[in-house]
Amino acid sequence: MKKVYIETMGCQMNKSDTERMLGMLSYLDYEETKNPEQADLLIVNTCSIRQLSEDKAFSQLGVWGKWKQEKPALKIGIAGCVAQQKAQSIFKRAHYVDFVLGTHKIYALPEIIEKINRGEKVCECTETNSTEDDLAVKYGIKRVKGVNAWIPITEGCNNFCTYCIVPYTRGRERSRLPETILKEAKDALNAGFKEITLLGQNVDSYGKDFKDRDYRLADLLRELNKVEGKFRIRFVTSYPTDITDELIKTVVELDKVCEYFHIPMQSGSSEVLKAMNRRYDRETYARIVKKVRDMVPDVTITSDFIAGFPGETEEQFQQTLSAIDEFELDYSNLAAYSPREKTVAAKWVDKFIPEDVKDERFQRLNKKVQENCLKSNLKYVGREMEVLIENFYEHKGKMINTGKTRNFKTVHIPCDKDLTGEFVNVKITGAKTWYLQGEIK
Ligand code: SAH
Ligand code: SF4
Ligand code: F3S
Repeated sequence: MKKVYIETMGCQMNKSDTERMLGMLSYLDYEETKNPEQADLLIVNTCSIRQLSEDKAFSQLGVWGKWKQEKPALKIGIAGCVAQQKAQSIFKRAHYVDFVLGTHKIYALPEIIEKINRGEKVCECTETNSTEDDLAVKYGIKRVKGVNAWIPITEGCNNFCTYCIVPYTRGRERSRLPETILKEAKDALNAGFKEITLLGQNVDSYGKDFKDRDYRLADLLRELNKVEGKFRIRFVTSYPTDITDELIKTVVELDKVCEYFHIPMQSGSSEVLKAMNRRYDRETYARIVKKVRDMVPDVTITSDFIAGFPGETEEQFQQTLSAIDEFELDYSNLAAYSPREKTVAAKWVDKFIPEDVKDERFQRLNKKVQENCLKSNLKYVGREMEVLIENFYEHKGKMINTGKTRNFKTVHIPCDKDLTGEFVNVKITGAKTWYLQGEIK
């Protein structure tokens, strides 16, 4: 059997695509290796959300290109968002690459492997804007072991936020068929997974593009919730103004759906939000978050923020700091603005914020996020919570189990027995910035 190694960068979408590529490759009798030096086929699955992510992809290719000089039979491929965006031009920059596979046609991988093994170079970056659910079913998925299974339900995005490259690398928004999603979920549960996370850039707009049926995220959640057995259901990412009352009610009603929303705000300033082409202002975001908190007990709400968007003033930046406090955001992912090819904001060069100012704002945001994380965690000390154990390892001479509560808090539990995959009732005894401490009841 030949061996394949895939290096995966970027978001869960890419991780899910890697599991699908491994499914196809195992169909072709390739076995996965964790050691790239032993591989016959090397694939880097790339991300281009920031310049740094793109640079990482090319530096990985550079290392492998050198290996190929010693081992000419080695095959090298690039997949993911950088591949989709750069297409043919990658061969110029990295002549040793055998194939470039964009995000639209990952199911072309088997044909591509056949061609490169005949010595051809292949670039497959045609935009299809289809979901190829039939092929997803045919090849199956080789999931990373663990307790959570990721299932994409929508691909692409129609929003064109002015900073973001995703609509250019992932194409227009399209929904996968409920039948396929349910099949993938049932297969994962039968294989022992305990949690299903539905994935999409704007998961709440699932189904808007179906012409033959009226079927939305709430319907999908209801159907998944009916599947027998004990397991949890999550979904990410929610675009603020797409969250409907029906969806929030469904989350409250369904026992398997967890109390967790990821609702990226991006900036606390209405003016910056407008420049970003986000379709809400600060007040609208405030209303949505309040509604979710009022309706869903113990809900965790997390966000993403960008520091130093072109033209962002100190006052506008401070509105982001105050938003984290005012909306009691439990956790936020942060990024310093990075100009991306083709996007609207990348052309506003005269408004770019100097690197040192962006970095300094990032640091202040980071401090704020940490303070709020601790504040949010402290609320749960003394409570009893259900934890799904994800990991078991030694820490400072003691064995601990770590896992997540329904509302996505990480809990560390000292215990000599490996409880991975089990649901345990835990008394929360302490809170740190990044996790809770607990004892088994
Ligand atoms: N669909 C999600 C975001 C997906 S991209 C949403 O609408 O919220 C993940 C995160 O990357 C974004 O939330 C944003 O905070 C960050 N991001 C995207 N483009 C960026 C850029 N050019 N510079 C810095 N951060 C960026
Ligand atoms: Fe990017 Fe905006 Fe689409 Fe999110 S909603 S993926 S930030 S364009
Ligand atoms: Fe994901 Fe990066 Fe592409 S965040 S969608 S892998 S640009």
